[in-house]
Amino acid sequence: MKRLAVLTSGGDCSGMNATLRAVVRAGLASGAEVIGIQKGFHGLIDRHYDILDTRSVSNVLQRGGTFLQSARCKEMRTEAGLRLATENLKGLGAEGLIVIGGDGSLKGAYAIYQQGIPVIGIPASIDNDIPFTDMSLGVDTALNNIITAIDNLKDTASSHDRAFVVETMGRDCGYLAVVATIASGAEYSLIPEEPYDLDQICTDLRRRYREGRSNSIILVAEGAGSAQEIADQIKERIGFETRVMVLGHYQRGGSPSVFDRLLGARFGQAAVENLLKGNGGKMLGLRAREIVLTDLETVITSGSRPIDPMLPLLASQLAV
Ligand code: F6P
Repeated sequence: MKRLAVLTSGGDCSGMNATLRAVVRAGLASGAEVIGIQKGFHGLIDRHYDILDTRSVSNVLQRGGTFLQSARCKEMRTEAGLRLATENLKGLGAEGLIVIGGDGSLKGAYAIYQQGIPVIGIPASIDNDIPFTDMSLGVDTALNNIITAIDNLKDTASSHDRAFVVETMGRDCGYLAVVATIASGAEYSLIPEEPYDLDQICTDLRRRYREGRSNSIILVAEGAGSAQEIADQIKERIGFETRVMVLGHYQRGGSPSVFDRLLGARFGQAAVENLLKGNGGKMLGLRAREIVLTDLETVITSGSRPIDPMLPLLASQLAV
């Protein structure tokens, strides 16, 4: 393979740059030229790209976001957009494509593969909702961002006997909220996968304060409701002083954790290696520490990765 292309698509996440660096350097080491497509599939449709050399990826490993930039691309869902993207890719002489992104991006990757171009997908989304991988790129850094924020909140919450309702991202998936609850020692996580009883939560909150606790942290996954509404309801029911923090896009940025740098390095190198071996139409995943391949078609038709039911159980058992 003489030329391959790479793009980052959908919501950015930390570790994308580490992955791009690995793709470029592993590609060059194997004698392939690497084209970086800008702004996801938009760059394929509009022909915005750069030839990447080893210096193009110097000093990017430690940065969050993606130096190629990213976008969600509606045109890729149309036949005309898909045709143009594929023609342009062929016109660039790219014999393979690496797509780094979440579920929508992997659908785009599969669509291009169906046009006869070898494609490897790399799961990258803080939501950790992509099946056939234990972890997606960016999840670990996002969790560390959430934990840092909660640790800081606990200081101020304790100084005022307050409850904080903290909203995490994750779209329809409660993974970030539930894992952050366990790892930060927060009291509750409200997630879309499980029903919750706000009356019970209010009763528990009262009891906690009677027992002398000085703070309570309630995590709300964005798919389970709005932190502001939950806080208002708590105030209305028990007159409790609450404050709200919506973590929003803060979770997605920042220097990637070692886990995400290593995962990005392994994914990037494995993507190149698999394209060179002729393995198109696959997504890479991390399962029990090994990098594994799953058919893109299986990935995009299998729905979201479910949360391990032990996690919510553990979160509630540890928060007493
Ligand atoms: O999929 C990643 C994610 O950050 C979700 O958690 C969130 O719902 C969404 O993207 C936000 O999208 P945008 O960056 O377009 O506002």
